[in-house]
Amino acid sequence: MRKKLIAGNWKMNLDWNEAMTLFANLIQFETSKQSKADVAVFPPSAYIRHFYELASDRKSSIGIGAQDCSEYNGGAYTGELAASMIKSVGASYCLVGHSERREYHHESNDVLSEKVERLLENDVIPVFCCGESLDHRESGNHTFVTDNQLDGTIFELNEEQFSNVVIAYEPVWAIGTGKTASPDQAQDMHAFIRGLVQSKYGATIANNTRILYGGSMKPSNAHELLSQPDVDGGLIGGASLKVDDFGAIINACS
Ligand code: 13P
Repeated sequence: MRKKLIAGNWKMNLDWNEAMTLFANLIQFETSKQSKADVAVFPPSAYIRHFYELASDRKSSIGIGAQDCSEYNGGAYTGELAASMIKSVGASYCLVGHSERREYHHESNDVLSEKVERLLENDVIPVFCCGESLDHRESGNHTFVTDNQLDGTIFELNEEQFSNVVIAYEPVWAIGTGKTASPDQAQDMHAFIRGLVQSKYGATIANNTRILYGGSMKPSNAHELLSQPDVDGGLIGGASLKVDDFGAIINACS
């Protein structure tokens, strides 16, 4: 049985004081509830160590993740963070291939594959993002595009490596737009992705793979989306920046 994962991608939001307040409130929320889901936050990397220490001090099980890492192990790459570095400051997860990175930083399948490899070598769980643009959805190419994003990257992994990957399906047209995939659209794509995993790695691995939905998930639509049989959690942007909204999404997991 897959346990749901509710993950907050804070993107490049919140200064130090705002971030500390939100994280402290989130710890308080999470430790006072018997949450049915695993919870993780992906703050700006400068905050990871402090969050990790605070979560450890308060005996909180909230996982901390980075939003990106380098495809290289180290060296003369100004501004980059190696997978080993984010691991050493307490990250247990890292996003890879978010559509904003693909679009603004032109990250190719080859680069994303290297990032996934570096993370797995350092025992960090890659949360691998995929999903189609509006054009691709409207032209009926959404399954083809998503298949390609997986085929050229995480589907190159061996079974043991793949078993440590989380997939996040994030249709680009639903990110930050207020337009959410309908529960049926989300379920169809998640079932499609699980089918691909099954053909490549077999039923046991497919049944154990967590596939999160991301794109304008909020308290008003979370329960319906999270009730779909192949939706194993959420990767939440805007609504993860308010403890009440993020808490309501955590509570929507049954
Ligand atoms: P929104 O929830 O703001 O649409 O963002 C989704 C996202 O990009 C999470 O990675």
